[in-house]
Amino acid sequence: MFGTKMLYGAAYYPEHWERKHWARDAKLMKQAGFNVVRVGEFAWWNFEPREGVFDFTWLDDAIAGLYENGISTIIGTPTATIPAWMAKAYPHVMGMDDKGVRRPFGVRKDYCVLQPDFDRLAMRVVERVAAHYADDKRVIGFQTDNEFGSSRCRCGLCHEHFRKFLQRRYGTIDRINKEYGTWFWGAVYNSFDEIDLPTPACPNPSHGLDFKRFASFVDIEHQSKQIKLLRKLAPRKLITHNLMGLFSDIEYYEFCKDLDFVSWDSYPGNNTENRFADDSLAHAVMWSMKQANVLIMEKQSGPGGWTTYAPATAPGEQSMLAWQSIARGADGISYFRWRTSISGQEQYWHGIINHDNVPRRRYREVATMGKDVARLSSAIIGTEPVRQVGIYNNYDQIWATEYQHQNNDDPIRFNLVMREMAEALLLLGVDIGSFGDGQKLKDYKALVCPPLYLSNPKLVADLTAYVRAGGHLVLTARSGVKTINNKNLMQPLPGPFAELAGVEIDEYAVLPKDADWKVELPQGSIKTKRIREHLLVKKGTEIIGIHRGDYMDGLPAITKHKVGKGCVWYVGTLPSAADWRLLFQLILPGAKVDFRTDIPTGIEIAHRSAKGRQLTFVLNHAGKSQIVRLAGTATDLLGGKKCDGRVELPPYGVAVLNGRA
Ligand code: GAL
Repeated sequence: MFGTKMLYGAAYYPEHWERKHWARDAKLMKQAGFNVVRVGEFAWWNFEPREGVFDFTWLDDAIAGLYENGISTIIGTPTATIPAWMAKAYPHVMGMDDKGVRRPFGVRKDYCVLQPDFDRLAMRVVERVAAHYADDKRVIGFQTDNEFGSSRCRCGLCHEHFRKFLQRRYGTIDRINKEYGTWFWGAVYNSFDEIDLPTPACPNPSHGLDFKRFASFVDIEHQSKQIKLLRKLAPRKLITHNLMGLFSDIEYYEFCKDLDFVSWDSYPGNNTENRFADDSLAHAVMWSMKQANVLIMEKQSGPGGWTTYAPATAPGEQSMLAWQSIARGADGISYFRWRTSISGQEQYWHGIINHDNVPRRRYREVATMGKDVARLSSAIIGTEPVRQVGIYNNYDQIWATEYQHQNNDDPIRFNLVMREMAEALLLLGVDIGSFGDGQKLKDYKALVCPPLYLSNPKLVADLTAYVRAGGHLVLTARSGVKTINNKNLMQPLPGPFAELAGVEIDEYAVLPKDADWKVELPQGSIKTKRIREHLLVKKGTEIIGIHRGDYMDGLPAITKHKVGKGCVWYVGTLPSAADWRLLFQLILPGAKVDFRTDIPTGIEIAHRSAKGRQLTFVLNHAGKSQIVRLAGTATDLLGGKKCDGRVELPPYGVAVLNGRA
């Protein structure tokens, strides 16, 4: 992605520090193996201290000193925070909450992107930055803004734009009434003017879903405007944005279309045994956006916190987490942040260097990692994460099950189930990928879908074609429930997936958290969780699991249906990660997916490959030494040792083995 070298660096805020620190900073960065820093995303005031008065000298000087030390720059367009002069001169740009109160100035993202005065001034500052650095060889490219999606305005203009958005989407008022089913509670609209943003409390779910779509669209549109300007004025520069992993308020597939590459902010937080599952899934989801390797724009480098702070990472843990990102498809790591801020809201969000400006353990660790990254670059660059099982990701599904998670006690949410499925697969050492609508499916040995609550005819067609051609597909309870606009279908469940699954749901019941019923499998059993469905099995469908307990006792719960050259599993409950792990052991062999059941707790195994070469990353997330069995002999490129049939990792240790070990 970035040539033959991996990128390595940090977020740097030269404007936070007196100039006397800059030269030493650059020198220490060089010694730590840095070749990139990200700057500028909150520096609107520094670029434009008074309306229409611009100043680039400070950044020019900072960039020059860095470049002399071999460090290039990515510049954030500075629109993530507005200057105080703007808030005073144009008070209407401040965002509004649902009670009609404008936000006070002083927190980032406190404005409304739809306000023309904001838009005009934002585009002007982006234009100036783009023009100033267009031909500057020290600048690799631009990051648009910072973490889009983190705040939502509800001012009058937002209501107006929402109406226009609906008009474009549905065309006529009759259509929207039909799609929303507004006859319920007599909420029929006579014209688009009558439609407001939905109540935050408990809106008509169709209305609520469209609000989520609208909010996402607003950020995508705003970013598109920035990108158009950047491309026009600085056509040779790369453009990215720092996404947020499993954050789900933006339809990231659409959002990423105009970007040259995906970068994202990875904050794994503090260790719990299987923490890596969420992080690894986030990496897979981010990779899937452009189906290409990514840059970690912000990797947590110290205890996080604003008013308080989290426990510190143990020695080695920070680097292990950075290696995890590389194992899962990052071609570069940039930490957040170089030095901990001595002022402002994030004083306790620790960077590589503490407030005291003395390079200590975290700096030494980052510097060692810098050497290792440089040494292993040529082995890693050109490879990408191996993906055998694809996990479906879709924002409409996430949003719809946010509004109606159906089970008070044990929510049925698309992204919760996605996480549990991922955890189960990762504990079996399966190489996971993530896929979105319209992406290439045929290379996956198996696909697993969290509840396909909304039905999308194109998805039904794509999954059917995948299975007919020999693919293995896992569907779950609560699939095929609704239209794409979040209204229940009037047809037997699982709706448009019934033919593919070879079942019809006779009855469904949500379960309290402490329900103690089971599904009996050919070997062992799993606990029903969240919901149980009684499946009516069509001819040719095999019954794999049977309900045990209460009135569904003895009825079909899990099935397998051969379709064309492939097969479809239907799981009539939404089990825990541990139970998915058992179920996958039944499902994966037929799909010829590689997995193993002997991975010690806290050990993560991931693979990257390119034509003719493969790497195995073994990561120890536990604070104790662990031994991992290997298929044969391999060389640990990181530690430089030969490993014969096993590798022993110290607490938070990492091995990068040559070949598939
Ligand atoms: C990120 C954000 C950074 C910083 C960091 C720590 O999400 O992009 O600017 O705020 O969190 O809070």
